[in-house]
Amino acid sequence: MQKIKTISCIGAGYVGGPTMAVIALKNPHIRVNVVDIDPEKIRQWNSENLEELPVYEPGLSEIISEVRNKNLFFFGDINRAIEEAEMIFISVNTPTKTYGVGKGMAADLKYVELCARQIADVATSDKIVVEKSTLPVRTASSIKRILKEQNRGLKFSVLSNPEFLAEGTAIKDLLHADRVLIGGEQSESGNMAIEALADIYASWIPRERILTTNIWSSELSKLTANAFLAQRISSINAISALCEVTEADVDEVAKAVGMDSRIGPKFLKASVGFGGSCFQKDILNLVYLCRHFGLSEAADYWEQVIIMNDYQKTRFAMNMVKSMFNTVSGKKIVLFGWAFKKDTNDSRESAAIYIADKLIEEQAVVHVYDPKVKYERMLQDLIDLQTRTETENKNLLNFEEDPYEAAKDAHAVAIITEWDEFETYDWQRIYKSMKKPAFVFDGRNILDYEALREIGFEVSVIGKRRA
Ligand code: NAD
Ligand code: UGA
Repeated sequence: MQKIKTISCIGAGYVGGPTMAVIALKNPHIRVNVVDIDPEKIRQWNSENLEELPVYEPGLSEIISEVRNKNLFFFGDINRAIEEAEMIFISVNTPTKTYGVGKGMAADLKYVELCARQIADVATSDKIVVEKSTLPVRTASSIKRILKEQNRGLKFSVLSNPEFLAEGTAIKDLLHADRVLIGGEQSESGNMAIEALADIYASWIPRERILTTNIWSSELSKLTANAFLAQRISSINAISALCEVTEADVDEVAKAVGMDSRIGPKFLKASVGFGGSCFQKDILNLVYLCRHFGLSEAADYWEQVIIMNDYQKTRFAMNMVKSMFNTVSGKKIVLFGWAFKKDTNDSRESAAIYIADKLIEEQAVVHVYDPKVKYERMLQDLIDLQTRTETENKNLLNFEEDPYEAAKDAHAVAIITEWDEFETYDWQRIYKSMKKPAFVFDGRNILDYEALREIGFEVSVIGKRRA
């Protein structure tokens, strides 16, 4: 079996950085290079100040300080990284297409293709190319084709090794993965490549949890896993709407339903709607694929998960307006949380963006406090929606560094992200500083709403009937 001595990873993002850090930690004999076209990102990964790392994940900075510049290296020279490695991970972004055929649905594979072309142009020895990015089923055949065209007698094996980590728990998920999935070609060279990669993971993942499949099953399993997870959230969110107009309590329903061992308790937490860079993009991609293959009923089925999620975000914002006497014009509203979930600085597709946008549309004065997301990121998120000009957004979105300052003279506070610290706040103090009636909208169901009501707040909670 081929023993890998050097790995390179193209793409130093939320997946590339943490994944390679853990591979380097568990394989001190392997040199791991991580490269990116964005020089600023490389600078941040190399920063002495660990607060500056481009990705915030519990446990990440400790690993980085242990392995960086020992066997983990971040740099910008992609050609050098390709030449040096026997195995190359492609871990670049695969966003939803914003142009041309498949606009708004299909995955944009231009960054992946660029990587494949660069590998084909630069390589001077055989390589195992690993798809780490989430890709539509059958992408490996395009990558293989591009690599083959270089025609210099080099051998390239292509593997699919999708990543299942969730942000906020990335290090834990990587260290204790439920499974590692490796898809490869059913041939002698394909099997050798699979073995070489399995061997790297076997440094810390028990062999029985390293699952090998054909390459197409691996690619499709990733999209399917995300679709199933998101489907559970949309299902419980649909029920949350029904709970709010009956006497049912969504947490109680989720508990009762989740205790059925066939259903299980995870991913049944009602919320303002799921966010993150992948659920929406991957389901849209799945819908696109189904339509592409003429499976319109299957496409419609999965699309409903997204429609439900959009409804949940809008419903939350509109409920705020309705509760506040049908007008929020000129009222100060504070959003607690901008990240799409706790313990990450990532805000891609966060419900916060859409809720802020809707409230601004209603002429509310929106202030935001988040422990990890920077103002520039929030502003850019709003700008990317293209609903108003950059200057307008700058004037309308107010950034807060202190939650108590943020709440002063506010008419309402809305919990958008489930950051633990929100539960520990002095809500009495917050109440005193707010305009009356003081509203709390808990989009994450994390606060003790009965205690808040006793303080005097008007409280609305996702999936609970208002008092
Ligand atoms: P990201 O945007 O954080 O990182 C991607 C990086 O790739 C960026 O830094 C970008 O500059 C770089 N890049 C793009 N083109 C490049 C090129 N040609 N050469 C060098 N660098 C290039 O994205 P991410 O969140 O890390 O996601 C990467 C992939 O992993 C996506 O396909 C995503 O669906 C998948 N994924 C993400 C997660 C997650 O939690 N974020 C989890 C599992 C899978
Ligand atoms: C998700 C998957 O969980 C990962 O397995 C996958 O690798 C990743 O997508 C990916 O492909 O990018 P992630 O989006 O990082 O991970 O985070 P999740 O924990 O799945 O949360 C996604 C969204 O759903 C968040 O907004 C979260 O608040 C929301 N959520 C989650 C709920 O509203 N309710 C729940 O019960 C669980």
